[in-house]
Amino acid sequence: MKIGILNSGGDCPGLNAVIHGVVGAANQRGWEVIGFRDGFEGLLPPGDYTVLKPHDTIGILKLGGTILGTTNKGHFTTKIGKGDIAEVPAEIVAKAKRTMDQLGIGALIIVGGDGSLTTALQLYHEGWPVIGVPKTIDNDLSATAMTFGFDSAVSTVVDGLDRLHTTAASHKRIMVLEVMGRHAGWIALWGGIAGGADVILIPEIPFSFEKIAAFIKRREAGGHHSTLVVVAEGAPMPEGELVTLDANCSGEVRLGGIGERVATRLQSLTGKETRSCTLGHLQRGGAPTSLDRILGMRFGVMAVNLAAEGTFGHMVSYQAYHVDSVPISEAVNQLRLVQADGELVQAAKAVGICMGD
Ligand code: F6P
Repeated sequence: MKIGILNSGGDCPGLNAVIHGVVGAANQRGWEVIGFRDGFEGLLPPGDYTVLKPHDTIGILKLGGTILGTTNKGHFTTKIGKGDIAEVPAEIVAKAKRTMDQLGIGALIIVGGDGSLTTALQLYHEGWPVIGVPKTIDNDLSATAMTFGFDSAVSTVVDGLDRLHTTAASHKRIMVLEVMGRHAGWIALWGGIAGGADVILIPEIPFSFEKIAAFIKRREAGGHHSTLVVVAEGAPMPEGELVTLDANCSGEVRLGGIGERVATRLQSLTGKETRSCTLGHLQRGGAPTSLDRILGMRFGVMAVNLAAEGTFGHMVSYQAYHVDSVPISEAVNQLRLVQADGELVQAAKAVGICMGD
């Protein structure tokens, strides 16, 4: 058996761990692994790929990014605008299929987020032997309790907050940290709690500047002269506006800029000196944490197991400390969001964190 693997969408710590898992497990079965470069684009004639042998994966577990390259634009984009779905054109699918057939690929492992898995689902419906592996730092995919990359991103947020804390305390300032996560607040919530944030603003909980300012004034009165605020890039302003940058090539909306807006408003409402900092792609880069290395590796091994069983159209999934699989259709087009009244938010509030509401 010959299997293919590609990484699609944004890079994410742990992608190389998946490749490590796939190549190792496939090698045990005597299978050949073809790694397609730059996502689905590598499938287009004449094909851009490499044969992956175990010695090619030595030392890659600790590397961020992906040795295969990836892209979140190009011919196979299915997510446009604010989440609208497009189909990959039939002639593109046909060209890519020719490469699959010429190489004799019996299973194609697609490692990607919501958009890439939507493409995977279309290909499955058109008869391709696809297996999905969920990937995103945002941790917003349905049907899996966790995606690799999330823990690494959270660690970067925590490191950022630890650093901002010292400046906030020394200067008696409000420091605002803007973090990624798109329309889900997982990175902000986990990173904020673990990093000791005083205020956490997430897309799932509408916030009021007046309430945050009142909270900060109460802190002042209580002798706490600095405040750390974490805001998720996808948290809408109180008026409902999403703060965005320009649209990227795939047409998907780029979020960013809310940190500065929050800082400006809080400074004017509290009279306290306020600064904002955007972590940006630092959250996506660098070495994966041990959790993400292990999760990625296990996902890769499970993907090979699914290929051996012929369980196509499924996505590897992590549930209750166990790696299993679910139909891709259960995982896409439905974001897994933070529950506004869930246990985690309640716990944050119980320790005195202001969620802006
Ligand atoms: O989905 C992962 C993510 O890092 C988001 O958190 C962020 O909004 C987006 O990708 C950034 O994408 P790009 O790398 O295209 O700027």
